[in-house]
Amino acid sequence: MSQTVKAVIARAKGEPVELVDIVVPDPGPGEAVVKVEACGVCHTDLHYREGGINDDFPFLLGHEAAGVVEAVGEGVTDIAPGDFVILNWRAVCGNCRACNKGKPWYCFATHNAKQKMTLTDGTELSPALGIGAFAEKTLVAAGQCTKVDPDAEAAAVGLLGCGVMAGFGAAVNTGGIGLGDSLAVIGCGGVGNAAIQGGKVAGATTIIAVDVDDRKLEQAKRFGATHTVNSKNEDAVEKIREYTGGFGADVVVEAVGRPETYEQAFFARDLAGTVVLVGVPTPEKTLTLPLIEIFGRGGALKSSWYGDCLPSRDFPMLVDLYKQGRFDLGSFVTEKIGIGDVEAAFEKMHHGDVLRSVVVLD
Ligand SMILES: NC(=O)c1ccc[n+]([C@@H]2O[C@H](COP(=O)([O-])OP(=O)(O)OC[C@H]3O[C@@H](n4cnc5c(N)ncnc54)[C@H](O)[C@@H]3O)[C@@H](O)[C@H]2O)c1
Ligand SMILES: [Zn+2]
Ligand SMILES: [Zn+2]
Repeated sequence: MSQTVKAVIARAKGEPVELVDIVVPDPGPGEAVVKVEACGVCHTDLHYREGGINDDFPFLLGHEAAGVVEAVGEGVTDIAPGDFVILNWRAVCGNCRACNKGKPWYCFATHNAKQKMTLTDGTELSPALGIGAFAEKTLVAAGQCTKVDPDAEAAAVGLLGCGVMAGFGAAVNTGGIGLGDSLAVIGCGGVGNAAIQGGKVAGATTIIAVDVDDRKLEQAKRFGATHTVNSKNEDAVEKIREYTGGFGADVVVEAVGRPETYEQAFFARDLAGTVVLVGVPTPEKTLTLPLIEIFGRGGALKSSWYGDCLPSRDFPMLVDLYKQGRFDLGSFVTEKIGIGDVEAAFEKMHHGDVLRSVVVLD
């Protein structure tokens, strides 16, 4: 058995996305079908459409989603039909070399649905990050469903499924930002502003937002930035040093994914500080740095995959903080759109008009 639903696909590199019918199989062992209520438009969806991730077209886009479990397959006990869940792309296996070393947030063998969703002609789809949630319904591994308080707005909490979690975790989990630390964030889109919120929640006292767009810097202040730098007009490294007593920040989060912004991050941190790369570079980008500076500055150069999160630990905690008014998740939702408006949302993202457009389904 299977069902046919509407969904947004990227058929070929650089082509506009299309709203089409797709076939969603009934859940097999260890799988679940989720009725999607909301799904944010992340920059990574655009990377997929542009062929920047891989060439496995057609892609079923969308991966920052919340919804309600419709059906579960054999052997699924952690979730049941009717549960309100956030979808995650880190269903840890518990058995790979990372999991066995007690570092499941690096899990190298995360679970996805085994069956394929297809076009009506049988063509297999590649779901973005193993999710594919610009769709009325989607098929995932049961472990990709994290149950959270149903009394939370889907459009807001769905964002925890990718960008907001990635940014928050980049600052807090990967960067280890803490009470009294200084944090600089380069690139203040959905991911960067979430890193700023993470710094605020964790007690950073100096939080410097860097972007080339003044509108993003205004938003960053709302999320907790104490200082802003428009790096089109000012030298980001100099300003970050100036705002941190001449030293540089304890943690610098790079949320753009470009060599020039990574270089800024590298030189804008304090001795023994930490750089966290959460922005995703395209494959052709390279970077040259003086090796003596890498040695002489010490500290840590880290990358952050999905904010080093553990969905079952972090999603319910962040939903609690959101409901208590301590984590401003709602302000990441710039606009709610229909499932047919994803291409227009890419355009707005490209022009920096939005933090997040969120597809809302009835
Ligand atoms: N590591 C992960 O797990 C993970 C997860 C989600 C997204 N990402 C990546 O994070 C990055 C940001 O995603 P987003 O959704 O926030 O994108 P976005 O487009 O909303 O934000 C990017 C921001 O960077 C700013 N920017 C562009 N060029 C700049 C420059 N030279 N200097 C300073 N700022 C500049 C833009 O003005 C914009 O505000 C993307 O590369 C995305 O793929 C990574
Ligand atoms: Zn594992
Ligand atoms: Zn994403």
